[in-house]
Amino acid sequence: MSHALAGLRVLLGVSGGIAAYKGAELVRRLRDAGAQVRVVLTENAARFVTPLTFQALSGNPVRTSLWDESAEAAMGHIELARWADEVLIAPASADLIARLAQGQADELLTTLCLACAAPLSIAPAMNQQMWAHAATQANLVTLRARGVRVFGPGVGEQACGDVGSGRLLEPGEIVEALAATRAPRVLAGTRVLVTAGPTFEDIDPVRFIGNRSSGRMGFAIAAAARDAGAQVTLVAGPVNLSTPAGIERVDVRSAQQMHAAVLARAAGADVFISTAAVGDFRPASVASQKLKKTDRNSGLTLDLVQNPDILAEVADLPQRPFVVGFAAETHDVEAYARAKLERKNLDLIAANQVGEGCGFERDDNALLLIWPGGRQELATASKLTLARDLVAHIAHLRAARGAAA
Ligand code: C5P
Repeated sequence: MSHALAGLRVLLGVSGGIAAYKGAELVRRLRDAGAQVRVVLTENAARFVTPLTFQALSGNPVRTSLWDESAEAAMGHIELARWADEVLIAPASADLIARLAQGQADELLTTLCLACAAPLSIAPAMNQQMWAHAATQANLVTLRARGVRVFGPGVGEQACGDVGSGRLLEPGEIVEALAATRAPRVLAGTRVLVTAGPTFEDIDPVRFIGNRSSGRMGFAIAAAARDAGAQVTLVAGPVNLSTPAGIERVDVRSAQQMHAAVLARAAGADVFISTAAVGDFRPASVASQKLKKTDRNSGLTLDLVQNPDILAEVADLPQRPFVVGFAAETHDVEAYARAKLERKNLDLIAANQVGEGCGFERDDNALLLIWPGGRQELATASKLTLARDLVAHIAHLRAARGAAA
């Protein structure tokens, strides 16, 4: 699978602010994602970071002024505007946002924005007070109404010492946000239900049986399904992850709670993707007080009962969605996954190897997709890239089924 932005021509505008230095990393990330990058710095941005830095990283000449005769003789500003498939401004300062909202063309970057027909995305970065100011917010309303996409800003500690909203998103997040806007809308109009994370099965008020699932794969799938146009509900076990924008999240703790949350929603879903590492067993009863050691040598036997198999139950519903399971295995991945596909009556299973150095608690992964009648390997990639491929695959299989019906 090629990168999300492969071959895309991105005109990156960098405006003046301390976050301009992050623009350098952004160029690298864009190129890693397969994009061609040309950089335009405002005069103020060039006070923070030199054009040479961006030239070296982008592999292309950098423009800073409308009045550069040699540049205008080569790739003039109108050519540059025609060249771009996407215009991305990061960081976008309060001043630049104001000038864009006014439609000004008093220097190269704003002139390019007026002269360019490509979609415009901005990643704002400024002091939290400036971000919250009514003037800035009014300018953003204007820009959004014109179709400008606004990425972030993030919340946190700022270069000036303030804490609040106005931080530039991390370069990786900006690349993901741009890639999301380019995702094909293959699940438009569908409702997708996703489970993610571990479940915690309480033993007593302080102890539980859990597992090492971080929830990252499920959250990435929920985001990829949203980007593909689906209306997404994410049923999440106890995880330490923020909810992707535009997704309905239902928090649960135990397998039984996850079971109730899923079964209440499954009949209304078109696709169910079961990424959660659901605990197979739970203590037969939860002690109301903390269990105590009695003496030095005695052990403790926990009585466990089986949890409901949420995935199998959804697959057994009379009006069932398209059902996708996961199989995390330490060995014989394909054989176990195939058996699970058949036993649980699934439409598709995504199998991966877990254990030392792979699977849980990582940002990348590899998957083997198996469905009745086919298989496909998805090589090691970021969980978001894999999630996009999986979503594309689901859409393809559903479409093929629709065509066959
Ligand atoms: O049988 P096994 O637990 O390996 O199956 C894994 C798949 O089944 C995953 O998709 C997981 O989310 C789902 N599952 C479930 N409920 C359970 C156990 C597993 O939905 N109680």
